[in-house]
Amino acid sequence: MSEYKICLLTDIHLPRRGEKAMEVDTYKNLENVIQRIIGEQPDYIINAGDICFKEPVEETYLWFKNYMDSLNIPYSTIVGNHDDSKMMASIVHPELNFNKDTNELYYVKYINGIKFIFLDSGRGELSDQQWEWFRSELENDEAKYIIMHHPPVEAHVPHMDIRYSFNQSERFLNLLAAHKGEITIFTGHYHVERTILKPDFNIFITPSCFVQIDDRYEEFQADHKYPCFRNIYIEREGTEMISTVKYLYNN
Ligand SMILES: [Fe+2]
Repeated sequence: MSEYKICLLTDIHLPRRGEKAMEVDTYKNLENVIQRIIGEQPDYIINAGDICFKEPVEETYLWFKNYMDSLNIPYSTIVGNHDDSKMMASIVHPELNFNKDTNELYYVKYINGIKFIFLDSGRGELSDQQWEWFRSELENDEAKYIIMHHPPVEAHVPHMDIRYSFNQSERFLNLLAAHKGEITIFTGHYHVERTILKPDFNIFITPSCFVQIDDRYEEFQADHKYPCFRNIYIEREGTEMISTVKYLYNN
């Protein structure tokens, strides 16, 4: 392996077919972003949650599944707060283990031999069962990357930090403090770009495919509507990672 490339997209927020999401045609955004992603020739695609606009809709997942399968590029999807874990599990990822007790879809995937932990933070928190699984997955093998919809800590975006942040930051910080290896976390949800360096882990927040949020205000205020995706280049047998975000200014 010299270089392995992952493209990450998030918060595509698809409404029912024929409808628009706040005057944005998010189907068109998705298709434009995917065209750019195809041009990047990625080895893998990660979707970091919020497939649906507001409410989870079965037809939307079916459409998404067909669309993603048609690309012939391996991909993984996680649950966002506008998703339904069970619908996503049964329609998009029937090959994965769905936890029927807690109604959560969390899993591990080795991408090019590197361990990725995919969490289900759809409810803004993890069940005790998921925490226990997460702890043991961190312990029993050298996980390097975590993919989750919510940033696990606040990120200087008042609209999101006040209303829609992760509910269990303290627990997250404590767990990662007890973990020895280097951990990098990729999230979506906040509709901004952020890099956060913590003592025990780093976080990269990827902007949305839909609309970006102005981080100066507590009330929702759109910043701009250029859709975005992230490139993640993993180099030198997984010891180095370079990441960049790309906006579609000509969308
Ligand atoms: Fe979200």
